[in-house]
Amino acid sequence: MNYEQTLEKSKKHNQQHLLTFWNELDESSREKLLDQIGQIDFNSLDSKIQEYVKNSAPTKLPSKIEPAPVYPAIPQTPEHKEKFAKAKKLGEELLSKGKVAAFVVAGGQGTRLGFDGPKGDFKVSPIKNKTLFQIFAESIKAAGIKYGFQPHWYIMTSPLNDEPTRKIFKSNNFYGLKEQNVFFFQQGTEVNYSTDGKILLAEKDTLATSPDGHGGSLKALYKSGAVAEMKKLGIEHISYFQVDNPLINIFDPLFIGLHAIDDAEMSSKYLTKCEPLEKVGNFCLGDGKVTVIEYSDLPDELAYKKNPDGSLVFALGSIAIHIISRTFIERLNAKGFALPYHRAVKKIPYVDTTSGKIIKPEKPNGIKLETFVFDALPLAKESIILETIRSDEFAPVKNAEGADSPAVTKRMMVERAAEWLENAGIKIPKKPDGSIDCQIEIAPSFALSAEDIASKKINLKIESGQKVYLE
Ligand code: UTP
Repeated sequence: MNYEQTLEKSKKHNQQHLLTFWNELDESSREKLLDQIGQIDFNSLDSKIQEYVKNSAPTKLPSKIEPAPVYPAIPQTPEHKEKFAKAKKLGEELLSKGKVAAFVVAGGQGTRLGFDGPKGDFKVSPIKNKTLFQIFAESIKAAGIKYGFQPHWYIMTSPLNDEPTRKIFKSNNFYGLKEQNVFFFQQGTEVNYSTDGKILLAEKDTLATSPDGHGGSLKALYKSGAVAEMKKLGIEHISYFQVDNPLINIFDPLFIGLHAIDDAEMSSKYLTKCEPLEKVGNFCLGDGKVTVIEYSDLPDELAYKKNPDGSLVFALGSIAIHIISRTFIERLNAKGFALPYHRAVKKIPYVDTTSGKIIKPEKPNGIKLETFVFDALPLAKESIILETIRSDEFAPVKNAEGADSPAVTKRMMVERAAEWLENAGIKIPKKPDGSIDCQIEIAPSFALSAEDIASKKINLKIESGQKVYLE
């Protein structure tokens, strides 16, 4: 579109303020601005603004909400025991044949943590101060050695952190992985709005944008060519995880095997919620399909509903750990699909179109729209849910302090290491209150699971207050 066409389109949709500074811009800035406005889907803009920006469209809840069927962490019935054994074997086979790739979504802004840089570069391990990226890379490398395959790792960044992320990997020599086996790609963005539905300018020639949410990964994996490359490499399953959780078991044969045996397109791990309103999504069956309902959307009478034994009926917390079949992503993208938007009210710096000055608001002033990956679950033909245990696999670094902070994550890393060693018969020094009285860090090269430790003959004596690093 040229200037006149862009102005006309913008006027029609109440966005002509975007061209306020046209006369001040040089040729390249003008081009840049027209290009960005040209990328807006004006056909859906008005309804999107009406539904999600000016109003907060109530989440469409399924008409029938039931508990979802799950696999427990430990099989309870003879049928399940047999199935788990088969699934684990199949998962190991799929791994050894190189059919599974690791995939981390690392495009978020990490505002709550307040760390300056890509969140994956945040140092979190208790003794060696390894970063999240390093822990994942070492786990991926160790799994490749354990199961005998060349691991491939796909990393989704955003335009805001792509360059620094690549630099971090380069300057760390890809943490021992082969450079050609690490594939970076960028997610899409969404424009930001004022609360009255005007698209904000970040600069006089630049629209304010932000990453389009982890749900954007399902489009970006396809658009970037990552999925096409996976197909060439014979990769069938994608192990999806978040950049903030160092306890993640990236290549879990049981989870992969159950997903494959049940012909699932997208599967999930859950953990049992600590309380009815814990701030995690809830796995449910919504009109017969596995669905995640956010904690804020689950009606209270369901959130508090109890089974006769006192346990919660809706107890399955979603923790953003999935296996996604490559063909699912191909199928969704081939016919086109849309995930619902989620609205977040945020502090968004913008150019004031009256004064031309950049305003850095102190209070939330605008709207960001994102999509969430779990909203793709109902689109899957089949979907399994496997239980995991919090202390084993979930310690996300979200906030600078308090719950989900680095201090908690570090403590949980030590506790898990201690538990693995205790299971293998090693005595862990404890304080009178039962807490652990030493620091332990287990490198992925030493063990990826409790089982790995149990299979080693370790002769280790740990003293109170000692720091023990095992690699
Ligand atoms: P969070 O919901 O924790 O968001 O992301 P965030 O942006 O990292 O942090 P805050 O809310 O600003 O504090 C969960 C996971 O999804 C990824 C994040 O990188 C993290 O691994 N993510 C989130 C993306 O990859 N892209 C996005 O647009 C949003």
